Amino acid sequence: MALKKLVAGNWKMHGTGADLAEVTSISLAAETAACDVALCLPATLVERGVRAAPGFAIGGQDCHAADKGAHTGDISAAMLKDAGATLTIVGHSERREAHGETDADVRAKAEAALAAGLQVILCIGESLEIREAGQAVNVVSAQVDASLPASSENLAIAYEPIWAIGTGKIPSMDDIAEMHGALRQRLVAAYGDAGNLVRILYGGSVKGSNAAEIFAVPNVDGALVGGASLKAADFLPIIAAAH
Ligand code: G3P
Repeated sequence: MALKKLVAGNWKMHGTGADLAEVTSISLAAETAACDVALCLPATLVERGVRAAPGFAIGGQDCHAADKGAHTGDISAAMLKDAGATLTIVGHSERREAHGETDADVRAKAEAALAAGLQVILCIGESLEIREAGQAVNVVSAQVDASLPASSENLAIAYEPIWAIGTGKIPSMDDIAEMHGALRQRLVAAYGDAGNLVRILYGGSVKGSNAAEIFAVPNVDGALVGGASLKAADFLPIIAAAH
């Protein structure tokens, strides 16, 4: 069964108030899109993004596993929700690498975000070394098994090979199909039939020029897009390719 695709942008540490016009343009295109569209903005822009694009899905890029407390610089899922966010990314490889986040940490963050009423995009993906060693499916399957929250409701996962992020390189369509097929099996093993309803996004150098080919791969239910989500001119062709 084909799921309605989700095309989510991840602005990472990009964007100030001067870029809100892009959020508005993207939100207007989303109104007539055949897919769901969202933008995960830097925390400083979430509330302004919501105001610039009422009714459009604005998300965060991470949250703390705790509701509140002595965690200087961190943001809770409840705070994102309070700012008007409807979703958040957790477990992005840049968080796992730069902040030492483990699968257990990611799972706890996903649980916290779901409990706060946010949709979750949970990221997993392998390094180039693991890909070249022929261990990508094994390693990513183990990663997803250890990161999944108890409930699949409001959950999407994003397969992002680390070596494809921001490099212009993407896996072959056969490799994407193999990985997404394996992830679907893990989701069904974890959640039963409900695992068939969890969207599996692909992320890593998605652009207008390769989006249609990637979206045609079985079990690719959308994309998590970095660089090409910053400008409406780059993001809109990706949205248009998702149907
Ligand atoms: O989360 C999206 C991301 O990591 C992919 O980034 O710039 O390769 O589309 P990019």
